[in-house]
Amino acid sequence: ASTSRHTFVVREASYTRLCSTKDILTVNGQFPGPTIYAMKGETIIVDVYNRGKENVTIHWHGVNMPRYPWTDGPEYITQCPIQPGLKFSQKIILSSEEGTLWWHAHSDWTRATVHGAIIVYPKNGTKYPFHKPNAEVLIILGQWWKIDANAIRDEGLASGAIANHSDSLLINGQPGDLLPCSKLDTFKLTVDHGKTYLLRIINAALQEALFFSIAKHKITVVGTDGSYTKPLTLDYITIFPGQTFDVLLEANQRPDHYYMAAIAFSLASTGRNIYDNTTTTAIVQYMGYYTPSSPPFLPHLPAYNDTNASVQVMANLRSLEDAEHPCNVPLSTSTKLIYTVSMNSYPCVNNSCSGTNGTRTAASINNISFHTPTVDILEAYYYNISGVYGDKFPSVPPLVFDFTADYLPLLYQLPSTGTEVRVLEYNSIVEIVFQGTNVAGGSIHSMHLHGHSFYVVGWGFGNFDENRDPLHYNLVDPPHQNTIYVPRNRWVAIRFEASNPGVWFMHCHIEEHSTWGMATVFIVKNGKHPKAQMLPPPSDMPPC
Ligand code: C2O
Ligand code: CU
Repeated sequence: ASTSRHTFVVREASYTRLCSTKDILTVNGQFPGPTIYAMKGETIIVDVYNRGKENVTIHWHGVNMPRYPWTDGPEYITQCPIQPGLKFSQKIILSSEEGTLWWHAHSDWTRATVHGAIIVYPKNGTKYPFHKPNAEVLIILGQWWKIDANAIRDEGLASGAIANHSDSLLINGQPGDLLPCSKLDTFKLTVDHGKTYLLRIINAALQEALFFSIAKHKITVVGTDGSYTKPLTLDYITIFPGQTFDVLLEANQRPDHYYMAAIAFSLASTGRNIYDNTTTTAIVQYMGYYTPSSPPFLPHLPAYNDTNASVQVMANLRSLEDAEHPCNVPLSTSTKLIYTVSMNSYPCVNNSCSGTNGTRTAASINNISFHTPTVDILEAYYYNISGVYGDKFPSVPPLVFDFTADYLPLLYQLPSTGTEVRVLEYNSIVEIVFQGTNVAGGSIHSMHLHGHSFYVVGWGFGNFDENRDPLHYNLVDPPHQNTIYVPRNRWVAIRFEASNPGVWFMHCHIEEHSTWGMATVFIVKNGKHPKAQMLPPPSDMPPC
């Protein structure tokens, strides 16, 4: 396989949005950041220079990095951060991924502005499993705050409340013309009637699950998270933080101007109205001579609290499963885990709360709120440094109770803090059932695993039933993903083969939830064969 090399200079740059200007952290001064184009199976080297004022790391989201966790990127999980003035040469090792992935900072909340796309084309001599589109278009969905990203984090942590909603959502870095001072720079996609466009859509927002749609047009999903799917034609998609979708858009309507728009699907039970100041828009404009409708047509999007709409895409997504893209879903499992993902609410008296640092809110998996260590877990594991993490997660089986109830065992309301990991034998076949809860009002989650893509074999309402629910798993053509939606009060089951030795983070991709502790780590042990073992570290690992 070939190798290409890129330079990422992490530095501040000044950007103006919503009538005000601020310095944001960028890569090469670009926001969204530069796109990496690659071919399946390629290895890419990115020289990351930190010329900013704060620590940073870069992660290749959805790249499985076979046997090489060293440059995967999550801060204090696989590396210590790159300090200002330092450089780290990172390898991106592509293997089975094909489609749209992305990269982002994995250090504090800097990924708010430090992110970009990774586009993986089929190998030479192979093709897309659909008609070649006439053109490809990148759609990066994000969020903009008038204040600094880390200030939002501090606000959220200090008050223990939900951090400020952003001042706007973004399409390709632009709020769109429903928002002040944004008209001229609104993203415009020019299309030619009769042609087909491949839209590569990434949800890079820190916190928001999004409904996305294009007025009067249907879109056909053909891939997600770097794997192909059976074509699925829809009016809208729901895209959770961290996910990507490849969709085909046929320019088959009367030449005119049409909005594409994204709106937030409420994480908890409160929310906003349709087409308010959280709606971001871009314009699909047909070529030709005509007088465009003004304003352009608006799409119909589900309401912010439409839970049924939110599960429709997940419910209907199937992996492509053809000769060139087989579906290798494990038919049996050797390690079964039930991970209860919950928000937790500490009691407060006169504004003084009993959580860590006086916080009111925590998030946890099986009642442990993840505490980030100060030496990275990968180096601690590799060099046998003790005292950095515990390896008995989960130490007690999850409690059995009605996860959809409002009354919950006290234990679940008051999690303990720890740096707990799960050690997996090489090639163990893992099933994880994420059980969503209604704790502390409940919230949706977007669980992301590093190092492995997984098959989403089942999901359902209410409490997971070990005896009954597995009978209904899809073991034929489940979608292959790296980030999955866990609805409130529902469960989702995933399976993967732990065939990638290394240290792999798993966390909610809603930034606030992972900061509050909704995270854990898998250590996958080496196999016997040298080809089943972790590669040695590079010589320029950032110092701790
Ligand atoms: Cu996209 Cu651990 O992250
Ligand atoms: Cu979450």
